[in-house]
Amino acid sequence: MPFAPKRPEEIDRMRVAGRLAASVLEMIGDHVRPGVTTDELDRICHDYIVDDLDCVPAPLHYTNSPEQPPFPKSICTSVNHVVCHGIPSPKKVLKRGDVLNIDVTVIKDGYHGDTSKMFFVGNASVLARRLVEVTQECLYEGIRQVRPGAHVGDIGYAISRHARANRFSVVREFCGHGIGELFHDDPQILHYGKRGDGDVLEEGITFTVEPMINAGRRHVKMLPDKWTAVTKDHKLSAQWEHTVLVTADGYEVLTLRTEEKFE
Ligand code: MF3
Ligand code: CO
Ligand code: CO
Repeated sequence: MPFAPKRPEEIDRMRVAGRLAASVLEMIGDHVRPGVTTDELDRICHDYIVDDLDCVPAPLHYTNSPEQPPFPKSICTSVNHVVCHGIPSPKKVLKRGDVLNIDVTVIKDGYHGDTSKMFFVGNASVLARRLVEVTQECLYEGIRQVRPGAHVGDIGYAISRHARANRFSVVREFCGHGIGELFHDDPQILHYGKRGDGDVLEEGITFTVEPMINAGRRHVKMLPDKWTAVTKDHKLSAQWEHTVLVTADGYEVLTLRTEEKFE
């Protein structure tokens, strides 16, 4: 059955996986500074996930389709105009003024926790700070729609309305997704749409919300590595992601970090 509600034991495992994924983002912040390479960040996260958390990094060797080579690293690192799925590289040295998304997915006891966060390398421009802040607000606006009986379209509508009000654009090629024993499951959570459209949310289902918001136009281009998506106009892009559970009266954010004050 597509996106069947999860049993209480499964939800408990999702809570554990979510908390552990969040802890990777809490750990890595101090390492994000000028001069570090995205490959070094990958190694630190990989070792923490495997050795300290006793988890599996879900991106490593992951593929969505036969045309796509397996993802070669354990996290995604998307810098500046990279929209998502940036591949960590020893050649990518972070410099002052860069903005970076780190996307972490861990598997614990067979269940996935998926979350991402933006980081500043030194001081960021006014535009970059505003884009990053508005994108996080878009995530929160989307999550606030979540409750039994709400439609998937309500989430997308709330996200795109907030982005548009700030004259930013919403990427359409990638979406949030059901998550559990599978990394990417139904339902698809579009980050744009109309109120009342799409699937109806039910208590006990789990999915991600992960808006990608661009400073310029919404269009993206795929690099020849078949993973890295960049903005066509090479302007900045930002993304934040949480894994959420639909509860009896709303939502629970399974990947909440201690630094976050939700609402
Ligand atoms: N974590 C990403 C998401 O939010 C997916 C990354 S797939 C990978 O869905 F293979 F690039 F890691
Ligand atoms: Co995701
Ligand atoms: Co992710």
